[in-house]
Amino acid sequence: MQISFSTAALPKSGVLIVPVFEDGKKSKAFDDLDKAAEGALTRAAKAAEFEGKKGKLLDIVTPAGLTNGRVLLAGAGKSKDFGALEAEALGGQAIGRALAMREKSATFSLAGFSAKKIDAGELAARIAHGARMKTYRFDKYRTKEEKKDKPTLAKITVNSSSAKAKTIYAAYEKIGDGVFLTRDLVSEPANVLHPESFAERCKALTELGVKVKVLGEKEMEKLGMGSLLGVGRGSVRESKLVAMEWMGGKKSDPAVAFVGKGVTFDTGGISLKPAKGMEDMKWDMGGAGAVTGAMAAIAGRKAKANVIGVIGLVENMPDGKAQRPGDVVTSMSGQTIEVLNTDAEGRLVLADALWWTQETYKPAAVIDLATLTGAIIVSLAHEFGGMFTKDDKLSKQLNAAAEATGDLLWRMPLTKTHDEMIKSDIADMQNIGGSGGGSSTAAAFLGRFIKEGVAWAHLDIAGMAWNPKDKPTIPKGGSGFGVRLLDEYVRENYEA
Ligand code: BES
Ligand code: MN
Ligand code: ZN
Repeated sequence: MQISFSTAALPKSGVLIVPVFEDGKKSKAFDDLDKAAEGALTRAAKAAEFEGKKGKLLDIVTPAGLTNGRVLLAGAGKSKDFGALEAEALGGQAIGRALAMREKSATFSLAGFSAKKIDAGELAARIAHGARMKTYRFDKYRTKEEKKDKPTLAKITVNSSSAKAKTIYAAYEKIGDGVFLTRDLVSEPANVLHPESFAERCKALTELGVKVKVLGEKEMEKLGMGSLLGVGRGSVRESKLVAMEWMGGKKSDPAVAFVGKGVTFDTGGISLKPAKGMEDMKWDMGGAGAVTGAMAAIAGRKAKANVIGVIGLVENMPDGKAQRPGDVVTSMSGQTIEVLNTDAEGRLVLADALWWTQETYKPAAVIDLATLTGAIIVSLAHEFGGMFTKDDKLSKQLNAAAEATGDLLWRMPLTKTHDEMIKSDIADMQNIGGSGGGSSTAAAFLGRFIKEGVAWAHLDIAGMAWNPKDKPTIPKGGSGFGVRLLDEYVRENYEA
């Protein structure tokens, strides 16, 4: 998709997208077009009862006096509520319609369209970003799609008076690249994306200046990662641990580490999952996908910060060599774990990944992302990621990043009682709690692998990694949740 910014006159072809507030005056863009079309826009809006409500669209076909085939009025809602996320949503929704219209080009006409909460350059950039996010498609395996079903839209232009839009957008383009990378990873089927091939894809980040290290099973055995390795025992694919280092800050700056669950397929192992819906478990690497995409975004825009991304990559399969319910494994930290359910595998992977990350990099803060529990979907549906932390400051920082980017979080309880629920009869802990509070006991388990004094948050993104239905800037499918959140968190807290 070609995205560009222009301050010149409007093009004579393609669809013209004109945002309209629900309150106050219409924009100059609207007035000019309406005049050229001899009032056709006003008449059409009236006839369709289009009032500019947020998210509403009105498609006006070949208005007299205009050479453009179409004008699309895009409701922007109340001007006092209109900020950056509203701009992105508007961009995404309008482009969703332009795609359905099978237009070849689309131009947002922003003359005289402004809101208090956002300056003109940011407005144009965010509309462009939201628009691009909506154009994502994972179509590499569709070999028989007919031309008439393929999208035609190739060019999006944002026409505004701001000369800064392009410069502001440059960072969003890199962030968008990171989101698209995550969506690709999450969408790939597990026969294609397994630990080895995932690690290979991480290596591509070296082009952005990221140092990529890959550990195989031999190295992990030496390090004593019995917890992570136990999960991969039933798979013919070799487990991997990938570390991605972006040292864009000063040498003396503290590093922040992101750690991701990368179960490239989760059958449940010997505690086998039911067949229905098991295909969803190809995206059980969503945490690792988000960490990888975030590293691409952060390196892509050359962030002045030291950021480490670590992902534990395994395939959880049942097999003669697979671990059994009741097995006891020893983690790299030395703590032993009774594996009562082989389907509670994500925490076993993270236990060693978290420990190794702290030992290797001594980070000031650690944030892990994982599609860890079905229970978090029961709590938060597909609206929020669950945030578990004992650190109020980190919670505030992450919430601020969530609200700025729309990757929303909701803080969940993590208490001593949850920790008591994973006491084992024969080992240091067991990998499941009793009944109830499944997301919190999973978090408490991870907490046992966090060292004293390290600021840590666990984000359970099981409800967010995959988007079950179209959202304004996210097509159905892999969402890229977490990329923008982590990028923003770094920008606000680690960049000077
Ligand atoms: N990957 C799943 C969690 C999951 C479920 C993610 C649905 C996305 C959608 C995880 O490994 C798992 O199986 N968790 C179990 C834990 C249980 C055995 C304690 C669960 O949630 O049922
Ligand atoms: Mn599982
Ligand atoms: Zn899993």
